[in-house]
Parts: sequence; C-alpha cells; structure tokens
Amino acid sequence: MKDMLVRLLELPDISDLEAKLQTNGVIIRRPIPPEKSFVVDWVFEHFGQYWKNEVETAFSSLPVSCFIAQQGNEILGFACFETSAKNFFGPTGTKESERGKGIGKVLLIKSLEAMREMGYAYAIIGGVGPAAFYESTVGAQVIPGSEISIYQHLIRNKP
Ligand SMILES: CC(C)(COP(=O)(O)OP(=O)(O)OC[C@H]1O[C@@H](n2cnc3c(N)ncnc32)[C@H](O)[C@@H]1OP(=O)(O)O)[C@@H](O)C(=O)NCCC(=O)NCCS
Repeated sequence: MKDMLVRLLELPDISDLEAKLQTNGVIIRRPIPPEKSFVVDWVFEHFGQYWKNEVETAFSSLPVSCFIAQQGNEILGFACFETSAKNFFGPTGTKESERGKGIGKVLLIKSLEAMREMGYAYAIIGGVGPAAFYESTVGAQVIPGSEISIYQHLIRNKP
C-alpha cells in the first residue's frame, strides 16, 4: 500500500454533483456526537474493525473529522480525515450498492476542503487502495518510497 499526495489549493467544484445527489435525497454532511454509535456500527458492518477504530477516533474531535452520505435514515458512505495521522485523509467507503453515483467523490472533496480550512495546503491519502479513483477525482500522485508506511506493523486479528 502506498500513500498519495494531493494539492488542496485547486479542488474541483462539486456543487452540481452535490445538488444532483440532493435531488435524489442524498445529503452529505458531518455527523454529530449523538450519532456516533450508528456511524461506528455501520462502518464496522460494511468495512470491518480497523476502519471502525478510525471512525471512532473521528468522533474525538469537534467538529467531528468525518463526513457521511445519508438518504433518509440510511447511511450510504463515509469519509474520515486525521484519524490515523495528522494531515492524512481516509478511510473512506461507499456502500457497495451505491457506488458509481458520485458519493465517494463528494465525500472525498468535502473532507479535503475541511482539511484546507484547517490550514493544510496538501493532504496525504494514506495506504491507498484505488489509486485511479484519487488520480481522476483530485489529481493525487503516489508518493515515492511510501510503501513503508505508518501501517507496516499493524497488529492483526489472531487466526
Ligand atoms: C473507492 C470508493 C470509495 C469510491 O466510491 P464511489 O461512491 O463509487 O465513487 P464515485 O461514484 O464518486 O466515483 C467518482 C469517480 O471515480 C471513479 N471511480 C470510483 N471508484 C473507482 C476505483 N475503484 N478505481 C478507479 N476509478 C474509480 C468513478 O468511475 C467516477 O468516475 P467519473 O467521475 O468519471 O464517473 C468505493 O469504490 C469504495 O467504497 N471502495 C471500497 C473501499 C475503498 O477501497 N476505499 C478507499 C480506501 S483508500
């Protein structure tokens, strides 16, 4: 897994995409502390224990350092930042049945905008899976030598 670097100064405009999602009843916003267990349980159910632990960390700051996509009472996706290291974006995920609709892109860019407002000019996308997603949405580039990362000695579940 490699890390990627993304420039925050010229992020794409997502207002049309966000408006389109809203027309379909999908809103993207920061959750608030009373919702913590709902968000954490949803992330555990869809993406497992590591990401559950990270999203829990997001609720230890105010405002909460994550965004969710919501349709009525259903969570469709989430994105966190500064939950594994300072200046790191991630983890993020969209419910499998909802992928390809622009939810991941809006979650990503709203999170990056929040990081820019924190004072960062660049952000690091930690331990990337789908590099092509980050390249095409925000022009992120792989950081040379980043295979050896903060995740290299993670404690794993015992078999
Ligand atoms: C990666 C992920 C969050 C994308 O969410 P999504 O809601 O499907 O993304 P979007 O619909 O906003 O996609 C935006 C664009 O990225 C492209 N894209 C989405 N996933 C992609 C992928 N895995 N690889 C390459 N391009 C991808 C889409 O085709 C779309 O392109 P377009 O704007 O030209 O139509 C989602 O696939 C996911 O949850 N994957 C599993 C968890 C994961 O790997 N998270 C990232 C950890 S680093």
